[in-house]
Amino acid sequence: MMQITIESKTLEQIEADALIVPVFEGRREGRFGAADLCDSGEVAGKSQELTLLHHPPGVASRRVLLAGAGKLEKFSPAELRKSVGAAVRHLKSKSVKRIAFATDPDYATPDYVSAAVEGAILGDFEPDRYKTGNDKKSVDEFVAAIADLTLAGQDHTKPTDSAGQSLGRLEEAVSRGRILGEAQNFTRGLVNEPANRLTPAKLADAARQMASEYQLDCDVLERAQMEELGMGALLGVAQGSAEPPALIVLRYKPAKAESAAHLGLVGKGVTFDTGGISIKPSEGMEKMKYDMAGGAAMIGAMRAIAQLKPSLPVTAFIPCVENMPGSRAQRPGDIVVAMSGKTIEVINTDAEGRLILADALTYARRQGCTHLVDAATLTAAVGVALGHLNVGLFANDDGMRDRVLQAARAEGERMWPLPLEDDYKDYLKSAFADLANVGGRYGGAVTAAMFLKEFAEDTPWVHLDIAGTAWLDESKPFLAKGPSGVGVRTLVRLATDWKD
Ligand code: BES
Ligand code: ZN
Ligand code: ZN
Repeated sequence: MMQITIESKTLEQIEADALIVPVFEGRREGRFGAADLCDSGEVAGKSQELTLLHHPPGVASRRVLLAGAGKLEKFSPAELRKSVGAAVRHLKSKSVKRIAFATDPDYATPDYVSAAVEGAILGDFEPDRYKTGNDKKSVDEFVAAIADLTLAGQDHTKPTDSAGQSLGRLEEAVSRGRILGEAQNFTRGLVNEPANRLTPAKLADAARQMASEYQLDCDVLERAQMEELGMGALLGVAQGSAEPPALIVLRYKPAKAESAAHLGLVGKGVTFDTGGISIKPSEGMEKMKYDMAGGAAMIGAMRAIAQLKPSLPVTAFIPCVENMPGSRAQRPGDIVVAMSGKTIEVINTDAEGRLILADALTYARRQGCTHLVDAATLTAAVGVALGHLNVGLFANDDGMRDRVLQAARAEGERMWPLPLEDDYKDYLKSAFADLANVGGRYGGAVTAAMFLKEFAEDTPWVHLDIAGTAWLDESKPFLAKGPSGVGVRTLVRLATDWKD
């Protein structure tokens, strides 16, 4: 775990292996002997540009890393998160262990400080824990390359700087940043686990262990209980695998509930998606271990929620199955009865996410949730619509949509609203049952969301399709290749900012 401390030292006094200093476009950095580099244009301050200076004059640190952060007018916590992330990834490739980040009155507000800490923690994550020599402990204990992060550069004890900061508020911001960064990495660790190691039962174990560490209640419903509850849609998907299904329920209750609302977080937990009898092509199928990224985002969010203690109750529901084409597998044409009573014709067994989510949404409503958000790697089509940059967002309620969009904006997670008009329901018509589980060739992300809407019923609900954003095929300067952990920060912010 990264040690993070705030020190009231000047930049000159900090002794680190490397001191990260943001530089801005059009702003000349005269310190650290950088003036010439700025004048020659080598250091331009462009977003994520990195320049490492060795033994810079006038400072106790052995190196200064100038971290380009773009134009000061466009600077934001999201930009700082990326900039620090890129700096950390660069430094760890040089075996640097102790880093410092130069705070500045211009960006010492809690949002910036949290973002800097998050950027460092997120930049430290690598998906290579199964390479020989790397630690293979529990998923949430990946080896941090960076041992120490010090935030310094001004006298934090005086509440006199331009932002009016006090040390207490800065400490709180560091703590929030750490909680969020670690929760997102926890999610990434789970998503990264291969499906032979992370079955539905193992995912439930990981949730249970996390819950006991952070004082959350955790129940795991087994097949027999699902049968009793009539979860025919979920059970239909599960029946093709030798691995039994699990419905993970994680509960957070505030000491004193100040809210009439009860937030339900529902996440798709398909530990592997072969497609079932409607089997997927083998090309790229190995990536389908990330089909539980929505569920993992909810577990990660609950880990942070348990520590940040919002004022409303939050319960997460993660239906976990392995979608396999075993001899007992459901077939195209099968008709299942969902817990809500609706009948579904399974046209395509590869549209399994919506089937398990249907029952989880119904269960969440019956458990008293007044507001729902689900996250799921639901459709390839959302990537066709939005590329890898934006989460597809659907809502049956404008107020709920705005809450989630606002939380996403505050956390620098990009989400884009897509339509959910009743006319799309025609796409899901079946001659034999109430609903078919797939629409036609077009508007795949919308018809999938439309299907879920039937089960959210009249509860204000948002659906996040993260199939295009939960996995990075290539690493970014600030984030390793593999699981992105998208959604975690937005969901936590939604809960902690909640007002009735
Ligand atoms: N898990 C997939 C969606 C997916 C695809 C996630 C690619 C990440 C990357 C989902 O279960 C699925 O297979 N959806 C089908 C739906 C279709 C059969 C209507 C799809 O998107 O092709
Ligand atoms: Zn599928
Ligand atoms: Zn799937």
